Amino acid sequence: MTRTTRIVSVLLLAVLPATAFAKELPRGPQYFHPPSQSALPHGKFGALVRQGRRIFMDTPRYAARYAGDGLSCQSCHLDAGRMPNAMPLWGAAGEYPKYQARTQQVVTLGERMQQCFIASLHGYAPPRDSETLLALEAYASWLSTGAPQRTVLRGAGLPQMPRTGHAPDPIAGRRTYEDHCATCHGDGGGIRNPKGGYAVPPLWGADAFPHGVGLGRQSILSRFILANMPQDQPGTLTPQQAKNVAAWIRIQWREPNPRKGLLGWLP
Ligand code: HEC
Ligand code: HEC
Repeated sequence: MTRTTRIVSVLLLAVLPATAFAKELPRGPQYFHPPSQSALPHGKFGALVRQGRRIFMDTPRYAARYAGDGLSCQSCHLDAGRMPNAMPLWGAAGEYPKYQARTQQVVTLGERMQQCFIASLHGYAPPRDSETLLALEAYASWLSTGAPQRTVLRGAGLPQMPRTGHAPDPIAGRRTYEDHCATCHGDGGGIRNPKGGYAVPPLWGADAFPHGVGLGRQSILSRFILANMPQDQPGTLTPQQAKNVAAWIRIQWREPNPRKGLLGWLP
């Protein structure tokens, strides 16, 4: 990328809503296709689904009382939870309730969402009967219309990482970051949207995901990056580059683990 195209793309990023990128991403026929936006239902169910979608795409705005950092659900669950290999909602909806080794419990979809509010969003769990959680569940349920249930669908969760035979190297990762990520994520702080929130979410610092969350683990972060980033050219990094850049991101400063210390009782 030349310097001019870089500057132009950064300027574009600053004015476009985050959703503008997602449309160009590849998505093959081998994956389940959620219903299209134009097929949104009418009536009360439709209103709840729409509300869920809004919360998912701009959580600090539409679920402000429960959100803690600068991220939205779709910062990680890309394209409003539709993107295969980026933990799509349609991949999750039919799998829950599901046994979770970490908590040694069978958790419902709503409880799994509460965990992402507490950890990834560094916020608070919306209560069971809150409109926030009911709307998010309605949205997930609608997105999985027609999907086989109680089975692991292709493209659900994150793809596996091939073995590279080398440990992650954060210093090599810094170079990868500068070459492939900094155009959008800047110095790690992301790009703010002039209308509020972030056009590109931060990767570290006070508004990023805190320590101790799923995406912050070396293996999960590398798999997410390998499959999904750079967002305009996913699939262009080698597995080793993805591991290296994940290691570089992981050594940057972020808020402490919300489950530790005074809040140790949280799930
Ligand atoms: C910082 C990134 C991040 C953000 C932000 C985030 N999540 Fe997640 N979420 C994850 C990761 C990573 C997993 C899978 C963790 C694992 O494999 O253990 C996950 C798992 C889930 C699952 C279960 C998926 C499955 O396939 O089992 C659901 C449902 C979910 N998140 C909903 C939400 C909702 C709703 C929000 C917004 C309130 C949200 N997430 C915000 C990273 C994030
Ligand atoms: C073309 C712009 C662009 C490039 C280049 C890019 N990203 Fe992203 N990235 C995004 C956007 C936008 C999102 C959030 C998705 C959304 O909101 O739709 C995101 C989300 C993420 C997330 C999850 C959310 C968070 O803030 O933690 C991680 C991790 C990430 N990117 C890492 C990387 C890495 C590593 C690279 C370089 C290999 C990279 N990105 C390159 C635009 C980009």
